[in-house]
This record gives sequence, structure tokens and C-alpha cells, in this order.
Amino acid sequence: MDNRPQWGTRAGFIMAAVGSAIGLGNIWRFPAVAYENGGGAFFLPYLFALLTAGIPLLIMEFTLGHKYRGSSPLSFARFRKNSEWLGWWQVAISFVIATYYAAIIAWSLSFAVFSFKQSWGSDPEGFFFGKYLKLAETPGDIGGIVPGVLIPIILVWIVTLGILIKGIKKGIEIANKIMIPTLVVLFLIIVVRALTLDGAAAGLDAFFKPDWSEIANPKVWVAAYGQIFFSLSIGFAIMVTYSSYLPKKTDISNNAFITGFANSGFELLAGIGVFAALGFMADQQGVPVNEVVGSGVGLAFIVFPKIISEFPAFNGFFGFAFFMCLTLAGLTSLISIVETFVAGIQDKFNVSRNKSVAVGGGLAAFISILFATKGGLYLLDSADYFINQFGIVLAGLAEVILVGWFAKELKTLQNHANSMSDIIIGSWWRICLGIITPIILGYMTIQNFITNFKTNYGDYPTAFIVYSGWAVAFAALIAGFILMKLKWKNNDVQAKVEK
Ligand code: PHE
Repeated sequence: MDNRPQWGTRAGFIMAAVGSAIGLGNIWRFPAVAYENGGGAFFLPYLFALLTAGIPLLIMEFTLGHKYRGSSPLSFARFRKNSEWLGWWQVAISFVIATYYAAIIAWSLSFAVFSFKQSWGSDPEGFFFGKYLKLAETPGDIGGIVPGVLIPIILVWIVTLGILIKGIKKGIEIANKIMIPTLVVLFLIIVVRALTLDGAAAGLDAFFKPDWSEIANPKVWVAAYGQIFFSLSIGFAIMVTYSSYLPKKTDISNNAFITGFANSGFELLAGIGVFAALGFMADQQGVPVNEVVGSGVGLAFIVFPKIISEFPAFNGFFGFAFFMCLTLAGLTSLISIVETFVAGIQDKFNVSRNKSVAVGGGLAAFISILFATKGGLYLLDSADYFINQFGIVLAGLAEVILVGWFAKELKTLQNHANSMSDIIIGSWWRICLGIITPIILGYMTIQNFITNFKTNYGDYPTAFIVYSGWAVAFAALIAGFILMKLKWKNNDVQAKVEK
């Protein structure tokens, strides 16, 4: 008997998958990546990456989850003997990301409240680093706990774990069905307003103006693939987990196309909104747009507060709306990433959902406290960089090799996907997975090693990046092997996995 919980509706699953995909990366990463890599010309490699890696990998992960009906470790264990470690590796990576992603959502939540009074005054930079984060002087100096950051972190965890405890249909599905439409509506309001501000046209011009001179540069293509991977939550164990809750009769390929295009659509919208706003700011300051372009934490918590303060009217509302968008986009991604280890623990140790949410979620929440300290931002920055470059990318590479290079298993997956779906996938799918994606990810990995052996990331002291970066990334891999060695507490599963 299969008593695995299920999504209530197809739309519910798609909403949850899209909710995971649409995250902070869409809003604060994509616009700058596109701008720096050729503007309008970037859409060519980006679309290529979406079609040759993004969607094929989504189809693959959806198929794995649906066919093997398990968390990522269980699905990989059932897929091929001795492959469970890969599932745990991805789960461990997700665990690390969850601990600091929660902190960023917490900052967004704080800033949504600060927006009403524009508490940052005329010095958003000093406000964010000094008054809010109380950032320590040197990396590695943990300092004390900052209550102003800790309280929203606790809130974020209460909401996230509260939703997860309610389960798939009543928790995750409903939350996404509320949060994603709210996010889209709020974001559209902001984009429309931004487009009608002075200078918006110059901002859009900067964003869309194609620069073809770099199109042959591998760096541009690597950036496109990197963005697609991160943005579609591929290689995080998320999509395997979410698709394990699909009903027996469902669609796979079409769902992957919808998820992929919805995410890219939002990304494009974010690019338009962010650049219209940046154009406005450049206009206010009388400088060219390229002087105000930024990404990540700086864009969200320093540049945007400035823009909000300069808004002609309703500053409080627009600030609140912007930071609520970050919060909602972040929450739906956090929910998906925590579900990977909640599901993994539940499958492996045969415990109730409540227990695995309490233990897995509780532990992640506890570790999050690290990011509410005065040294939290340095730890976050380093852990984020290393877990992405030497976690996600490497685990993604291992995944395409494991799945793409074993012809028999790959064919089984292809047949399974085709027996379910409207859209039939052919040999192009096997070529994308087995050849194109491994080459690109392999190239990325080699480049990453070279860059990081040459210079320390972020100019941090070596000792600091060793423990906050390298060690964290490699601990995730080791955790994968250790967890594989433990027996499945469910005898049926153990017996089948051993076969
Ligand atoms: N797709 C997410 C984003 O763009 C990536 C992510 C997913 C990050 C889940 C964390 C958790 O931000």
C-alpha cells in the first residue's frame, strides 16, 4: 500500500514547484547577471541553458521523484544501488542553505516594517550594517547575539515549520496557493509604478541593450547555466522531493515546461522592475545607470531603501510591498528546501512528520542563530558562496553523471516520463543530460577550483574561509556518505535497497 501524502491538485504541485523556483535569486540575482553578461544579448545563452539544462533536468528530477516515490535519498537509493549518498549530499546542502536563507528572509521582514518610517534615514548603508546587523569589525569575530535580527529569524521559523507540520496538501500546497499569487500581484504593482517613474526608460535601455561582443565568451554561457540551475532549484533535492508527492497518474514533462517558463517569466519581470527602479535612482542622482547597478544583499538592503525614500509618493507602501515580495519569494523557497530534509528524515528513520519537522527543522532553526550574531553576515557570505560553487554545482555534476551515463537506467526514466506526459521526450533529452550539461558543469567546477586556489573569496583570511566555506561544503559531501551507511528503519525499504 502506498500511503505517501499527495498534492491535492495539479495546480497545487505546479504552484509549489514554481514557489520554490521563484526566490531571492530571481529578484536580486538575475537582473545583475543578465546586465553584466551582455544585457539583451544574454537572453540567447539564457534561453539555451533553460532548454538544454533547466527543463531537461527538471524532467529528470520530476521523473525520479515520481517513479521512486521518495525523498531524494530514498529515490536515489531505489534508482541505483549505492547511489543514496547523492541524495543525502543534496539534502545536506539544502540543510546548510536553509540555515542562512531564513536569516535573509528575516532581514526582509524587518525591512518591510522599517519601510513605514524609512528608519534608514539618509544613510541606508550605515543603517543596515551598523544599526541593524551590528556587524563586527573582522570576519570570524562572532560577537554577541543581535536581538533585532534574532526575533524575526524565530518568526520565520515559526511560520515555516508551522506550514510544514500541516503536511503536503494542507500545509505546503495551501501556503503556496496563497503566497505565490500575492507575490505576483504585489510585484506587478511595484513594476508598473517603477515603469512610470522618471528615468525608467534609461534603466530599461541599460538592461535590454544587447552587447554581442561577449557572446562567444565562455564566461557568459557559464553565467547563464549557473543562473538557470540556481533559479530552478535543481540539484537541491527539492524537485525530487516535491514530485514524490505527485499522484500516480499525472503529467511530468509538461509540468516541467510550465515550471521552467513561469520561473523565467518572473525573472524577466524582476529584471524590468529592478532596472526601471535603478534608472529612476540614476536619474535622481544625475549619474549614468551603470553606476547604480548592484545585486544581492547590497541591492536589496542598501540600494532599494534609497530608491524607496526617493519615491514621489506612498513610500511606505512601496517599501513594504517590495520587502514583502522578498519575504514571500523567500518563504516559499525556504519551505521547499526544509521539506527535503524533513522528508529524508521521515523516510530513513521511519518517524512521523511531526517528529521529523521538530528534529530536522528545529536543528536548522537552532543553527540559524549563528546568523543573528554580529559576525553573521561574514559567515553567511562565505557559506553561501562555497555551498553554491562546491556544493550545488558539484552535486549537480555528480547527478547528471550518475543518471546520464547509465544508459539502461536513463532509458527507464525516459520511458517513465513518456508514459505519463503530454510532451514526449526523445534522444535530445538524453544528449542534454549526458553530454551538454556534464561538459558545462565540469568546466564550471574546474574554473571554480582554479579561481579559488588563486585568490581567497571575498579577500577573507584563509583560516576563515577554510572553516566557514570549504569545510562546510565538504562536510555536506561527507554527511552524504555517513548517512548512507545507516540502515533504513523501515524493513521493507532496507530489504529493497539492499537488493
Ligand atoms: N530558486 C531559488 C532562488 O532563486 C533558489 C533557492 C531555492 C534557494 C530554495 C534557497 C532555497 O532563490
